[in-house]
Amino acid sequence: MTRRILILGGTTEARLLAGRLAARGGLDVTVSLAGRTARIIDHGVPVRVGGFGGIEGLAAYLDEAEIDLMIDATHPFADQISRSAVAASVATGRRLLALRRPPWAPMAGDHWTEAADESAAVAALGETPRRVFLALGRQELRRFAAAPQHFYLVRSIDPIEDWPLPDAVFIEQRGPFREEDEVRLMREHRIDTLVARNSGGDAGYAKIVAARALGLPAVIIRRPVLPGAETVDTVDAAVAWIDHAFPPASERGV
Ligand SMILES: NC(=O)c1ccc[n+]([C@@H]2O[C@H](COP(=O)([O-])OP(=O)(O)OC[C@H]3O[C@@H](n4cnc5c(N)ncnc54)[C@H](OP(=O)(O)O)[C@@H]3O)[C@@H](O)[C@H]2O)c1
Repeated sequence: MTRRILILGGTTEARLLAGRLAARGGLDVTVSLAGRTARIIDHGVPVRVGGFGGIEGLAAYLDEAEIDLMIDATHPFADQISRSAVAASVATGRRLLALRRPPWAPMAGDHWTEAADESAAVAALGETPRRVFLALGRQELRRFAAAPQHFYLVRSIDPIEDWPLPDAVFIEQRGPFREEDEVRLMREHRIDTLVARNSGGDAGYAKIVAARALGLPAVIIRRPVLPGAETVDTVDAAVAWIDHAFPPASERGV
């Protein structure tokens, strides 16, 4: 019996999980992407792109596509789709597993100020002009328009066309990033403060390590609190969970 799995993606973990499941028989896997970035990365399984139309749209998709298991492997800050996933799972009775990497924890040598959201991060920067490395999603940057006294180095995957501040430099890069490159970048732009979300994971950790190495303060934005769902924190654990829920044919003695 083929089991249908929908992976809500947009993360490295979603891509890796899809690749692992593609190699396994008995599963029909689709990855869903919001379509925020121009280039769609190959996932090794079919990809659908674009929002579902809220909770109702996602619930209708789950029913129409006869999804046996939805895996929310979206970014820890993508709270809207994660809320939709929980609500649509409850509405349809279809199973949900969340794959969420653990957050980073401050270590010796880190100088973190934790902020509840982007507005709190803007406030934490204070009045005195700073040279800020903003490693944030495109949609959150506009909060920093409230603090035009700072210089901003902004890194994004796709170009940002409508940035409202005069003193900013933009670079387009997709991770993973290396510590030595992050140190070089911060030195080159004379950065004195890092602003980052507590995304967790390896791909974005180099900037945190670089700030530590340079002795720079960092304003770290906490994750949104999400409604409860059964959660694993690694791709391996997700595969093991799926193997347990839907044992491969050989293990069923078929
Ligand atoms: N937020 C970040 O910092 C960040 C970083 C890296 C990657 N991403 C990825 O980028 C995507 C969008 O992030 P976001 O913060 O804008 O999400 P969000 O605020 O939680 O979602 C906004 C809306 O976008 C649609 N959407 C989001 N993820 C989707 C997915 N995987 N498949 C289909 N529709 C999706 C949904 O539209 P409908 O309501 O119409 O269904 C959702 O209500 C996510 O896939 C996430 O994993 C986000």
